[in-house]
Amino acid sequence: MPDEPAAQDAPAPTGVSRRGMLAGALLAGAGGLAVGAAAGGGAAWALAPGPPAADDVVDLSVSYPFYGQTHQGGIATEPQRHCVFMSFRFDESADRGALQALLARWSAAAAVLQQGNPIGAVQPEVAVRPPADTGEAFGLSPAGLTVTVGLGPKVFGTRFGLSAQRPALFTELPVLNGDDLDPKLIGGDLSVQACADDPQVCYHAVRNLARLGRGIVYPYWAVLGFGRASAGPGQQTPRNLLGFKDGTRNIATADDYRRFVWITNGDQPWLEGGTYQVVRKIRMLLETWDTDRVGNQQQIIGRHKENGAPLSGNHEFDTPDFSARTADDLVIDPVSHVALAAHENNGGIMIRRRSYNYTDGLDDNGELNAGLLFVSYQNDPRHFIDIQNRLGAHDLLNEYIRHIGSAIFVVPPAPEQGHYLGQPLFA
Ligand code: HEM
Repeated sequence: MPDEPAAQDAPAPTGVSRRGMLAGALLAGAGGLAVGAAAGGGAAWALAPGPPAADDVVDLSVSYPFYGQTHQGGIATEPQRHCVFMSFRFDESADRGALQALLARWSAAAAVLQQGNPIGAVQPEVAVRPPADTGEAFGLSPAGLTVTVGLGPKVFGTRFGLSAQRPALFTELPVLNGDDLDPKLIGGDLSVQACADDPQVCYHAVRNLARLGRGIVYPYWAVLGFGRASAGPGQQTPRNLLGFKDGTRNIATADDYRRFVWITNGDQPWLEGGTYQVVRKIRMLLETWDTDRVGNQQQIIGRHKENGAPLSGNHEFDTPDFSARTADDLVIDPVSHVALAAHENNGGIMIRRRSYNYTDGLDDNGELNAGLLFVSYQNDPRHFIDIQNRLGAHDLLNEYIRHIGSAIFVVPPAPEQGHYLGQPLFA
């Protein structure tokens, strides 16, 4: 079941309307095209006037419990608006005891952070000591923070005495179709995904966990995500940087979570209720994309740009009809992104996508350095591998994207109160 927030979604004093902020920005702007069109009131693409929709309001007072949740947060949790992902590597000196201590520290810290509290004194009484908490989130609301911790393949090497606990399905990802990986963005021994509705809250969480890990792990690669490029039911579907709605057909029902996301009856009892996390940093070639005709963009994705409807339908949530034909051809190109990825054409496989947009500013050529922090959760890594191999071999989208970062982690279930993440591994 998707996790429920501890506080309900009622508009709170801290609520900020994105639409309100945008409208304000447009009005404050120097008489640009949008302002003129909105004043004329005739443009189909102008913002609709009126109060913000309920799901357009960010309630920063929402907090999620960390302990006793069966599954870690940040997987089925309704996607927050920002995300920081960090992959860590083990220090050479890290041993079994150090790994245990780190997981215990991270668990205790995550529980406190998710309640909107610092992990220790921001201003210690002894002025010559560094503060226990770095302080940049002091006084901020919990902002729906979830901290999700994953274990990389090296956790199950001989070094920690955990080889017998390695799930049979868990190995490094093989080379996949479409890989164009930067050696600095591959793999990792532990992962932290911190998602929240306030970017400073996410960053603070990851920064402080990294600090707690010093001497045991060191940060290896990281991505700062924004824009909630994936959504469940009842939300306005967000858009990726190609301008298309992303998340329309995603895992959302409890039944699909049971079938495709949570590990049950696996070979490792400690992993019941866990899942596998795949992270891909996918650069988009935005300058090229932005010169493409919208008709071609739609053919590539297999959906209409503005309302997100499949090319065979009229409304966003219409089921795509992959056999619908015009006089000469199929309406949805069989090598469009959705035709290749859809479960109908994929042996029934589904994955939980929980992606965010990212930008790293400009590259050395002055081009937009941006794309998708693609994160998927599945109870069998082969589900991701099979879909990616189909996409990487045939997807029309490949001309506009590059898979530059990649990692896989196994995500243990959430600990009970008084325990820590992965504790049964060490029993
Ligand atoms: C930059 C890279 C990507 C972009 C821009 C992108 C964009 C999209 C868009 C616009 C949709 C249609 C809306 C929706 O149903 O959510 C979609 C659907 C989907 N994508 Fe991607 N995607 C990307 C990468 C991937 C990757 C790497 C995978 C998995 C290996 C993937 C798997 C899927 C799946 C399973 C669907 C649902 C298809 C359906 O059931 O209709 N996507 N994607």
